[in-house]
Amino acid sequence: MSIFIDDKERIFKLDTANTSYIMAVADEPGYLGHVYYGRRLKDTDVRYLLRTSESPYIPSKNNRDKLSFTDCYPMEYPVHGSGDFRESALKIRTQEGYCTAELHYAGYSKERLLKPEMPGVYGDNGEVLSIVLKDECLDLEVVLKYTVFDDCDAIIRHCVITSNSNPLYLERAFSASFDMDNDGYELITLNGCWARERHIERCPIRHGLQGVNSRRGETSHQHHPFMGIVSKDCSQTQGEAYGVNLIYSGNFFSGVYEGQFDNLRIMTGIDPEDFEWKLNAGESFTTPQAVLVYSAEGLGGMSRTFHDLYRQHLIRSPWKDKARPILINNWEATYFDFDDEKLLAIAKEAAGCGIEMLVMDDGWFGARNDDNCALGDWTVNENKLKGGLKKLVDGVNALGLKFGIWFEPEMISPDSDLYRAHPDWAIAVPGRTAGLARNQYVLDISRSDVRDHVFKSLADILDSANIEYVKWDMNRPLADLASLKLDADKQKELSHRYVQGVYELQGRLMERYPDLLLENCSGGGGRFDAGMLCYSPQIWCSDDTDAIERLLIQEGTALIYPLSSMGAHVSDCPNHIVGRITPFETRGYVALAGTFGYELDITRIPKEDRAMIPAQVKMYHMYHELVAAGDYYRLASYSENKEFDSWMCIKKDKSEALLTFIQVKGRPACHSRRLKLQGLDPLKKYRISRFDIESVSEKPYGEDKAFYGDTLMNAGIIVENLWGDYKGMLLHIKSE
Ligand code: GLA
Repeated sequence: MSIFIDDKERIFKLDTANTSYIMAVADEPGYLGHVYYGRRLKDTDVRYLLRTSESPYIPSKNNRDKLSFTDCYPMEYPVHGSGDFRESALKIRTQEGYCTAELHYAGYSKERLLKPEMPGVYGDNGEVLSIVLKDECLDLEVVLKYTVFDDCDAIIRHCVITSNSNPLYLERAFSASFDMDNDGYELITLNGCWARERHIERCPIRHGLQGVNSRRGETSHQHHPFMGIVSKDCSQTQGEAYGVNLIYSGNFFSGVYEGQFDNLRIMTGIDPEDFEWKLNAGESFTTPQAVLVYSAEGLGGMSRTFHDLYRQHLIRSPWKDKARPILINNWEATYFDFDDEKLLAIAKEAAGCGIEMLVMDDGWFGARNDDNCALGDWTVNENKLKGGLKKLVDGVNALGLKFGIWFEPEMISPDSDLYRAHPDWAIAVPGRTAGLARNQYVLDISRSDVRDHVFKSLADILDSANIEYVKWDMNRPLADLASLKLDADKQKELSHRYVQGVYELQGRLMERYPDLLLENCSGGGGRFDAGMLCYSPQIWCSDDTDAIERLLIQEGTALIYPLSSMGAHVSDCPNHIVGRITPFETRGYVALAGTFGYELDITRIPKEDRAMIPAQVKMYHMYHELVAAGDYYRLASYSENKEFDSWMCIKKDKSEALLTFIQVKGRPACHSRRLKLQGLDPLKKYRISRFDIESVSEKPYGEDKAFYGDTLMNAGIIVENLWGDYKGMLLHIKSE
């Protein structure tokens, strides 16, 4: 990794192992232009790429007028109002109501990454380039920040915007933008809804604006702050893929604009619709960080870069590289209908099977026997937990299990003691009846007094017993936006202040309980994003625990996020969301591609299923390291072929791999198929064995013979048609 600066020619080049990102300053008046992003280049001065028919790019000397120049110049950080009519990254409003700005280059600095932003990347092998742009009229300074690491092919961008002498309003302040020609690229986004998050969609890019956003106050089940810009031939193994992901947990915008000259502008940042930020003189605004990844090795290369970056430079929890305890959660087992006896019975049976932690989900506090009440009343319901929480936790610990607990700290039920005492703490517009969702309101977490109360409620519970895990849930979007603590001209700051408040609370929690294992959740995967990963090493991926639905959800999620971060459990059948019946064994293989746990009443599931749990627990211990730390290769996609799914996790030194194959549908008159492996060392010889759940051991697969990685990758292996739908198998591939 290196940052080259050609002071004389005013060229900036960021090199990672395989990519280059180049910017240059045009002469007078000094617009910073985006020159190139892609495969690594040897040359630094490639400013010729900026010369098109509008050359020489000096408005005073240009034979055409300024606006035809500004409207086609590849601005590195385009601003609204001064003649670039494409989408802008920054829009400023003055007190007088004027919305024109223009940024000119004013200098740069380069330093080691010393003070990482939260949420954001960290590491002691990072360098940051800061390019300063100024608007002299507004006395405005915009510092574009670029972070690169020695060991990662990603570029992380954000901006710090400062008003030096006048109050200004930011109507839009994106994190990153860059321009390039449209070389027949296609757009990939992740979309869905509750219980169907992050399904992959791909479409051609057309002229105009295309993109996704969230205005729900969280990243959402519906869209995701990720965008892939990929060449037409891009597959898992080949073609070009640009990935853009925002490290943020609130309203976002990710879009691509194709202009009149077929050039693309790729942008991401906080969605402008519910955003505005007042900068008083001397104040700065820091945007969230955006991660840019370029891969010349298709989507697979892009995903592996994201995974490495997030495992090495984003997730902070001390749990990040440790085996997570196999947990059993009582949500699908009991819903609200439980007491200490039921939980202890589950814990007892679980302990006998080798499960390592019991998580008590929603319903243990206040008068909460359904989802109509009590959010905010974080006191133990002793009718359910007779003798109190400590007694239960001690009982669970005595069985050899750790104990975890569910909270929904950001919410308040209208039917709660908290609401009766502080109705003004709920987000609502004065004089209007705010809308309910799941019978609850959202607390105004932008307020420090509200946060202090929430934190104390959590800490009181966590201090009262040996609680080693928290599931932090968030079950409704933000609407009826108003905060009683904000001035009229700061009301549009609420959504961002809310997200900052959530970060502050989770940061405080991790500081006070550094060993706590935190799992974020939002009605399943409504806030599964890189921002939350800074605080919790794992996030509940979806309320849909059906193994087949999970194939689609987990494939989309793993496009960006490491498998170690995806909360995945084996649940009971018929599945509670889709009613599908799948083999218990297959459910285990699919959950193994995540954190692995259970979400069922172990005292009541079929005997054969229960009997399989100890074997699955051993399976987790045999392979979880490969899954959590390995390189991820996707061999087949059920979302594309509609029949089967397959992926591999390969140890970094390529000595070992785990292959999962799920046959979603049996196929008539199909004896076998060839499956080409990926990511192995072509010159190493590998033996393949199949995990046998009955004997909890590995048996030779196919020929009992070693083959070169080169054979396995180019010619493939034979996968026989498994008998039946929803069947799965695990292959362990080891070098000799
Ligand atoms: C959300 C979560 C579930 C469960 C319920 C409890 O839907 O995603 O896992 O915790 O809330 O109300």
